[in-house]
Parts: sequence; structure tokens; C-alpha cells
Amino acid sequence: MKLATLNYLHALCAFLPTAAAWGSLGHETVAYVASNFVAAGTQELFQTLLYNETSSYLANVATWADSFRYTAAGRFSAPFHFIDAEDNPPTSCGVTYSRDCGEKGCVVGAILNYTSQVMNTTLDSYTRNMAAKFVVHFLGDIHQPLHDEGLDVGGNTVLVTFGGVKTNLHHVWDTNMPEKLIGGYTLTDAEKWAEILTTAITSGIYQSLAADWLDGIDLADPVATALAWAEEANAFVCTTVLPNGVDAIDGQELDGDYYQAAIPVIQIQIARAGYRLARWLDLIAQAVNTVGKPEL
Ligand SMILES: *[C@@H]1O[C@H](CO)[C@@H](O)[C@H](O)[C@H]1NC(C)=O
Ligand SMILES: *[C@@H]1O[C@H](CO)[C@@H](O)[C@H](O)[C@H]1NC(C)=O
Ligand SMILES: *[C@@H]1O[C@H](CO)[C@@H](O)[C@H](O)[C@H]1NC(C)=O
Ligand SMILES: [Zn+2]
Repeated sequence: MKLATLNYLHALCAFLPTAAAWGSLGHETVAYVASNFVAAGTQELFQTLLYNETSSYLANVATWADSFRYTAAGRFSAPFHFIDAEDNPPTSCGVTYSRDCGEKGCVVGAILNYTSQVMNTTLDSYTRNMAAKFVVHFLGDIHQPLHDEGLDVGGNTVLVTFGGVKTNLHHVWDTNMPEKLIGGYTLTDAEKWAEILTTAITSGIYQSLAADWLDGIDLADPVATALAWAEEANAFVCTTVLPNGVDAIDGQELDGDYYQAAIPVIQIQIARAGYRLARWLDLIAQAVNTVGKPEL
């Protein structure tokens, strides 16, 4: 399928709730993990920018971008939630900025754009508030493997069932599997999941890995930074999302072995997204607080 056709389909899907990225549970969990790791000065800056003094200041805005994209004013931002890798899973996976970031933008370009806006203290608070909300959301999106894949509109047109309910592959990754794992989708569920992942990072199964998760993070080069995250998530399309190709799961029930194989990937991707979001916001806050007018 041509890139233009895929982008068109993706745009169509922007009007379907099934196209939303990690459901609210995933995005809010990423936000809570991040708020567990940010420095005090970072918390202060973002509580101010986001007009929320509670410990849920990041989680409170984590899904705003998924509502905004369905409004007339926000329609322009729909392509910013993904990058349509034109690779060939499961034979070969990979993301290339020049090939895969469409004319209308993509998640990698959006992370660059809105990071520079949050840091730009000459911009008005409305613009910086919106930019902060986008950054919190897009760092979550880019860690969902199917947000870094063009095939079948990021899995939106692959029809499957989950627990007997008809749905599509994209939705299974965004929502069905995380919600089955946690048993709910409220803010409280997200906070609890984030506690579990935070403990795994500080003293559990991710402790020895977490330092490496911050390798290559460079506020001076948001495109290279975000592209590495996209590349890493996209690799799971070949290994875990479509290990035997689309035909092997087309029309199949995924609440079984498929779910069991996917859960470790979902857990680590939510943990990574939250941990990296904390560092990204720390770097932004350091630049804003020390330099005043940071360069990007
Ligand atoms: C801050 O976020 C919490 C959690 O979403 C919400 O309940 C509260 O109303 C928010 N406060 C403000 C001032 O928006
Ligand atoms: C950057 O952000 C502005 C404001 O939301 C938006 O109009 C523009 O399309 C964005 N540009 C890119 C390349 O994402
Ligand atoms: C900050 O925003 C202003 C207004 O859009 C723009 O002219 C300026 O180049 C930006 N500064 C930086 C460092 O991006
Ligand atoms: Zn999204």
C-alpha cells in the first residue's frame, strides 16, 4: 500500500475511538511512573505549566491529546501520534525518519516541536501548557509498538477477537491487554500499576536495565532521541506483535498464548516510557530553570 493511502486510512481512523493510543490506563500509568522519578524542581515547573498542584499533575493530562485530535481544532495533530514505518514485518523491521515521517508530521517530529515549545519561555502560557500536554502523551505513544508501524494502519485493520469480543490488533495492544493485566482502567488502577513498575525499576526486575534506558537521551537532538525509542518499539512488531505475520493472527482469539507473550513487552514499554519521560522533563526543567531561554 502506498504511503499516501496509509496516511489517508490513518486519518480516517482518527475519527474512530479504536485508533486511540495506549488507552487511558497505559498513558496515565506512564505519567505516574514519570512523576515518581522527576526531580523536585521538575515537578514544580510542570505543576505550574499544567495548573495542577496534586501528585496527579501529569496523569491528569496524559490522555488530553487523544481527545483533542477528534475536535475540529485538533484534527491537525492526528498524525503526530504515530510514525508509519514502511518496513516489512516479520521479515524486517526498522524506522527511517525521512521515509516514514509523512508530510503532515509524525510522533518523532512532534516530540521535537513540542519539546522546543515547552522550553521557549517567550511563548505564552497557553501554548506552553498545550506543548507540555503533548510531550507527556507522545512519549507514551512512541513506546507502543504499533504506533511505530505502517502495516495495516498500525494494526487497525487486522480484525481479531479478545476474550470473545470482536476488536482489532491495535486496540488489543492499546487497551484490551493492559486492562486485562490490571483488571481496570481508572486513575487509581494506573497509580497502582505505576507503583508496581516503579518498584521494579528501583529494586526489582528492571533495576539492572534502567540505566541503559536513558542511553542516548539528548535534549539537543530530540529527533535522534525519539527515533531510537521508535526503532526499539518497532522491533517488537517483528518479534512479538506479528512474529508469524498478519495471516497467522487474522481473525484469531488473542486472549491466550498471544497475550502471555505480549505482557512482558507491554510492561517493559510502559516502564521505559515513564522512566524516560521523567528524564526528558528533568532535562527540560534544568534548561528552563538554569538558562532561562534555552537553545534547541
Ligand atoms: C488535578 O488532577 C486531578 C487528577 O486528575 C484532578 O482530580 C484535579 O481536579 C486536578 N486539579 C485541577 C485544578 O485541575
Ligand atoms: C508544531 O506545533 C504547532 C502548534 O501546535 C503546529 O501548528 C505545527 O503543525 C507543529 N509542527 C510540526 C512539524 O509538528
Ligand atoms: C521561541 O518562540 C518564538 C516565537 O515563536 C520564536 O521566534 C523563537 O525563535 C523561539 N525560540 C527558540 C529558542 O526556539
Ligand atoms: Zn495518542
